[in-house]
Amino acid sequence: MSQVHPEIHERWILRTELLWAFGVGVFIAAALGMIVFTALTMSINPPSNVERIDPKVLHLSGEFAEQNLGTTVAADGSVTVRAIATQFMFIPACIAVPANRLVTLRFASPDVIHGLLITGTNVNTMVLPGFVAQVHTEFTRSGDLLMPCHEYCGFGHSEMWATVQVMPQNAFQPKRNGRISCAQR
Ligand code: CUA
Repeated sequence: MSQVHPEIHERWILRTELLWAFGVGVFIAAALGMIVFTALTMSINPPSNVERIDPKVLHLSGEFAEQNLGTTVAADGSVTVRAIATQFMFIPACIAVPANRLVTLRFASPDVIHGLLITGTNVNTMVLPGFVAQVHTEFTRSGDLLMPCHEYCGFGHSEMWATVQVMPQNAFQPKRNGRISCAQR
C-alpha cells in the first residue's frame, strides 16, 4: 500500500477548502445581488415603518375607528387607505384605490398577527398587534385584485381575504368629504 505524502495531503485539503469557500462566496454574492436588484427595480423592500398603536382601543377612537376605515383622499390629493385585519376578516372587505397614483396603505390588528399581500403587486406585509403596518405603492392596472391573509391566524384564516378595486383615474371620484368606497356591481 502506498502512503500519501503528508504535504500533498495538506495541499489537497487547502484546495478543496478554497473551492468550497469560492462556491459559498458566489452563492452569497448572488443572493445579495438579487436582494439589491429586486429592491431597485421592483421596489421590494422590508417594511421600515415602526409606529405603535394600542390594539385594545384602536377601534374606539382615532385613526382606526370605524368611520375612518376605507379610502380617504386628503385636500392635497394624497390617497390613504386604512383597514383593520381581524379574526377573520378585513374591514372594509373591499378597498377602492386609483390606478397610477401613489397610495399609502395602513393596517392595524386588534387581536393576533395577520399578514397580507395584494396579488400581482409589491404589497406584502405582516400586521402585528401593537404596530401600524404601512406600505406605499402604485397600482398600474385597473381591475379587482385579491388580498388574502397570508399568516395563519386561527380556524378562519383561509376565509380571510378582501378585494382591492383598482379604478381608472376618471372613475375614482371621491365624495365631498374625500371618502370613496368600492363601486357596487
Ligand atoms: Cu388573518 Cu390569517
